[in-house]
Amino acid sequence: MPGKFIVFEGIDGSGKSTTIAAIAERLAAAGVKTIQLREPTEKTDASREIRRILRTATKIDAKVSGDLLDLFLIDRLWDIKHQIEPALSSGNVVLLDRYFISTCAYQSADTGETLNILQKYLDDTRILRPDALVFLNLPTKIAVRRLADRSARDVFETETRLEAIATRYAAAVRRLQESAHEIKVHEISHELTNSDFDTLADMIKGIIK
Ligand code: TYD
Repeated sequence: MPGKFIVFEGIDGSGKSTTIAAIAERLAAAGVKTIQLREPTEKTDASREIRRILRTATKIDAKVSGDLLDLFLIDRLWDIKHQIEPALSSGNVVLLDRYFISTCAYQSADTGETLNILQKYLDDTRILRPDALVFLNLPTKIAVRRLADRSARDVFETETRLEAIATRYAAAVRRLQESAHEIKVHEISHELTNSDFDTLADMIKGIIK
């Protein structure tokens, strides 16, 4: 496809949206057509049900994790077909805030199924693979401090839970690097600065060429 597909992953508070906004600004200044998307999409019934569950669930057990796994797949398939692929076909760089590595990390917190979920996604031919993955692997303590400043929190956003999610994130990214060599992985483990944003924007410009 003519465009390029860049995915941003990391726990809540790791700085994905700030990073995406900063990169989008730099790409726009360089005349690169860019579209910002996020998952859950907020545009499907499945994503509205996901939001309802995240807002109201007091605990995430295996049953709720299973429901969320199904709902995220439905929402993601819609996103690929109706937003990501059309944007790529018209030559855009797509910057996506969360994709299936989030599912591997979040929906396995109680089941330990991280790598099985990843394998299912890698085996599923409907799932478009990104050209690059930016993994914001910020220490959980810093992420939690940032979250404390926000008002609306969901069921995943306690420190213990985020620690568990962070561990699963790292495992999923490691495995992805081993099994999907065509995906360029950029991992950043510190608080991002303008120079990181410049480097990431340059990396994306490099992929477009
Ligand atoms: P996000 O939009 O990043 O959070 P916020 O609304 O605070 O900006 O993500 C919403 C929540 O959805 C977040 O807690 C992570 C969770 N999530 C999953 O559990 N699985 C997934 O596959 C995705 C994409 C998100």
